[in-house]
Amino acid sequence: MIKRKNIIKIAIDSPAAAGAGTIAKTISKHYNLFYLDTGKIYRFIAYLKLRFPKKYNYKFIKSKINSLKVKDLSNKLLLANEIGTEASIISKNKIIRKIVHSFQLKFAYNPPKKFKGSCLDGRDITYNIVPDADFKFYITAATKTRALRRYKELKSLKNKVTFHEVLKSIKKRDKSDYNRKIAPLKKTKDSLLINTTKLNKRACFLKIKKIIDRKLNN
Ligand code: C5P
Repeated sequence: MIKRKNIIKIAIDSPAAAGAGTIAKTISKHYNLFYLDTGKIYRFIAYLKLRFPKKYNYKFIKSKINSLKVKDLSNKLLLANEIGTEASIISKNKIIRKIVHSFQLKFAYNPPKKFKGSCLDGRDITYNIVPDADFKFYITAATKTRALRRYKELKSLKNKVTFHEVLKSIKKRDKSDYNRKIAPLKKTKDSLLINTTKLNKRACFLKIKKIIDRKLNN
């Protein structure tokens, strides 16, 4: 695998809807880093499973991942609640994780030339995908806060879903993501904890920026 030298690598892990994506996007833009929302890859595979149930097998997934473009991951269809639920089920599969692994490595270590580095967020990024990241963060927030944020996001996309349903699925997803055997969500010792329950987007950004600038300017 090609690894670009002297790039900045940021690794973020977080439970669902903790605000990691929003922060990661802002940070990536600020430092000109390539941003990859790794949850979207699992969501994409979940979408394939629901959309093409008859064709769905490892060979099919592999070929779809091989031709997957990062811009395809911004498809709004992938945000649906049932896709998230299905994603957390298929992400327990070792073979699927292996297929997704190489896709992630390519972007983490060899981001397109115009970027100064990479920023990935997910569940196992800090210790499994980019263990040598220059900066590691564990971003979290209270369960109800996360459910409310996701509910508002889904509402704005005209999704027919109730707050109760969103809360229930977030709890279910947390349980599965934290407790699964393969690549569970956890805060590593070398990750900085950022709790966004009482922080707005700007405050989160400034907090993380301060940490990054301190090290970069040293
Ligand atoms: O981040 P998002 O909520 O979109 O992720 C959907 C699901 O994909 C998660 O609930 C989790 O089970 C899985 N996932 C994972 N590893 C990652 C990112 C996401 O297992 N690095």
